[in-house]
Amino acid sequence: MVSRDVPAQGAGRSRGPAGSPENKAIAADVYAGVDTDAAAIAVSGLGKEYRHGRRRLRALDGVNLAVGRGEVFGLLGANGAGKTTLVKVLLGLARPTSGEVRVRGRDPRRAAARRRIGYLPEGHRFPGYLTGEAALRLFGRLAGVAEGTLDQRIPELLDLVGLAGRGGDRMGRYSKGMTQRLGLAGALLDEPEILFLDEPTDGVDPVGRRRIRDVLLATRRRGTTIFINSHLLSEVERTCDRVAILHQGRVVREGTVADLTTPALRYRVRLGEGQSAAPERLAGEGLAVVSGNGSLEVEVADLAALNRLVDRLRADHLLIAEVSPLRAALEDVFIEVLEGEARAAGVSDHGPLTTDHDPGGGR
Ligand SMILES: Nc1ncnc2c1ncn2[C@@H]1O[C@H](COP(=O)(O)OP(=O)(O)O)[C@@H](O)[C@H]1O
Ligand SMILES: [Mg+2]
Repeated sequence: MVSRDVPAQGAGRSRGPAGSPENKAIAADVYAGVDTDAAAIAVSGLGKEYRHGRRRLRALDGVNLAVGRGEVFGLLGANGAGKTTLVKVLLGLARPTSGEVRVRGRDPRRAAARRRIGYLPEGHRFPGYLTGEAALRLFGRLAGVAEGTLDQRIPELLDLVGLAGRGGDRMGRYSKGMTQRLGLAGALLDEPEILFLDEPTDGVDPVGRRRIRDVLLATRRRGTTIFINSHLLSEVERTCDRVAILHQGRVVREGTVADLTTPALRYRVRLGEGQSAAPERLAGEGLAVVSGNGSLEVEVADLAALNRLVDRLRADHLLIAEVSPLRAALEDVFIEVLEGEARAAGVSDHGPLTTDHDPGGGR
């Protein structure tokens, strides 16, 4: 598909994110699970190539995805997967080589389409001589926020991100975590409808991460759509409703965190205090592993098998305290998906996969 400009018709008429007829320009199957008219972000067949000398590097390769209004969406991927490139395309900062992109129903390369969109760039830097407050005022002015509004919003936001009392300090003295939180305040100045965060917690210590997470939850409660790029999986797991895993420019897995982390038909069955099941009594109902503390982990063929197992335990007069689906960590899923991709490709250009190392602040 060749890059083409969005048809102008309708662009001026469509108001707000919902009900935009322009979302329909995107292939219908992109919207699986997302209301087409309420999609905040929709991307179909998106490709982006960079030239590296005479070589072409395909940073994005046929990406399809949609994000509903008010959703918190996480884009996961190793370094170089194409996450930043995708966000830049969504912000109109990079031009797609092919495909269609809509943000609130519009082509993001139109300036008007970028109003009320917040952006925290990856590894952003501020001039060290600026105070936090001065940096926010500068951003606010650039975004066209009225001075009176800034007078009110800046102290509110500093408080929200845990920098109350530090707004007068020069940013050269800020830690990595403080810098990220200031950047987050900057991204929220214009009360965005959509917030893009590129690696928001990278290099931030656990306390700072918690703070950022709390701010994001508060922002989401206001109805803001949040799009987070991250290679920090546990962070995404805690924050996002839905995730996509990007690998070498392609979406290789997508779904709710619960869907991705719940392997089919594996359960923990916990028995009451002091009770235990004889392994031979469980034979025949799938794979059951009895662990020391009176709980079993079972993998069954179907729900009927799980229930037969429960019947058998009950026939032995054992008390069942809990039956719950077993979940994997998102990290396990991520590694599994990437290893599967590497096997399918026949080679791994990755070397050992590393994820979610905790830099523990300051990098
Ligand atoms: N401006 C650019 N010019 C050339 N190549 C780029 C540019 N930006 C990114 N790339 C390349 O595109 C690929 C994807 O990069 P990026 O989107 O930054 O990945 P991620 O954010 O997932 O780490 C990488 O191979 C990177 O080197
Ligand atoms: Mg990046």
